[in-house]
Amino acid sequence: MKKFKWGILAPGKMAVKFSRGIQLLENAEIYSVGSRDIQRAKIFAEEFGCKKYYGSYEELAADPDVDVIYIASPHSYHREHTLLCLSNGKNVICEKAFAMNCSEVSQMISDAKKRKLFLMEALWPPFQPFYKKASEIIESGVLGKIYHLHGYFTFIAPYDPLDRKFNLSLGGSSLLDIGIYPVIDALTFMGVPDDVKASAAFSPTGSEESVSVIFRYKDGRMATLYSSFKTSIGIGCEIICEKGNITVSRGRDMNQRVLLELHGSEKQEFVFSPPAMGYHWEAEEVMKCLDDNRTQSQVVPISFSVNLIKTLDRIREEAGIIFPDID
Ligand SMILES: NC(=O)c1ccc[n+]([C@@H]2O[C@H](COP(=O)([O-])OP(=O)(O)OC[C@H]3O[C@@H](n4cnc5c(N)ncnc54)[C@H](OP(=O)(O)O)[C@@H]3O)[C@@H](O)[C@H]2O)c1
Repeated sequence: MKKFKWGILAPGKMAVKFSRGIQLLENAEIYSVGSRDIQRAKIFAEEFGCKKYYGSYEELAADPDVDVIYIASPHSYHREHTLLCLSNGKNVICEKAFAMNCSEVSQMISDAKKRKLFLMEALWPPFQPFYKKASEIIESGVLGKIYHLHGYFTFIAPYDPLDRKFNLSLGGSSLLDIGIYPVIDALTFMGVPDDVKASAAFSPTGSEESVSVIFRYKDGRMATLYSSFKTSIGIGCEIICEKGNITVSRGRDMNQRVLLELHGSEKQEFVFSPPAMGYHWEAEEVMKCLDDNRTQSQVVPISFSVNLIKTLDRIREEAGIIFPDID
């Protein structure tokens, strides 16, 4: 296997976590980093042993030795930064939400296709053992038909109008930041909904800070989804089925749990604690695809990211979640 040289674009909190994952992989080197501020790039480069660091994203993208760039800037910059990297011939894995809306995501996809470069949304759940375990149990048929999914992701984020979570020009929104996870749960375990209803509450900046969503499927199945920066009920989803229920959750410690409750049987719990919170599997998948000359992942195919952003657009429209500088 080739050893891949990674570039890190926007060394914020998430870039540090993802890079700790890359460090676990023998065929990966965190080669360079680009920040808007050369001092931040230098600090990151020292921590992760990067050979190069840059005070701009343009210089990082232009580095001829970089094979693949991980983008971890705020949501509203994902399209611009992805297009910058692609135009410099770089393969890209970009953080969720992939971009602000379906039109932006479509531009990213067509540009990657045109240039025959790899593109993937950095979606954590599909690579994780709790997700794989839950899928295996559901697919085995022991639980029978799924009737309902209740998914949630909440934590209390102190209000700060400048923080990217509340700043409209940075794509601040609980839906795009954390509500995306219950949406991923519903799409993964139940598919694309036939009908979407949603309602939201807003912070003083006008950014959405809590959203409640109902998905309806033609066969009568339903999902209720909730995200909020105002409450703290944790992260997970309960899948309510004909012959029992399964709860898939993760704690603040990032431990992953699957609780299986079959009617008339003892409860069974499965707990997983992957190293580096399991972020390394996304980087590993990128390198496997590049080794196989594939321009998209089969674990997070482009079609899943398109369904996801279209569904987020539908929720936003229903709940009146608007980004005045972008929409
Ligand atoms: N997959 C996951 O589990 C997970 C978890 C958390 C977050 N995320 C995603 O990761 C991305 C980054 O989140 P984060 O929590 O790491 O954010 P963060 O700590 O605020 O870092 C974002 C970085 O973006 C850069 N940036 C570029 N333009 C900016 C602007 N105008 N204002 C502020 N920062 C700007 C900054 O780096 P420089 O100034 O140094 O260039 C900043 O450090 C988001 O898409 C988020 O949804 C994913």
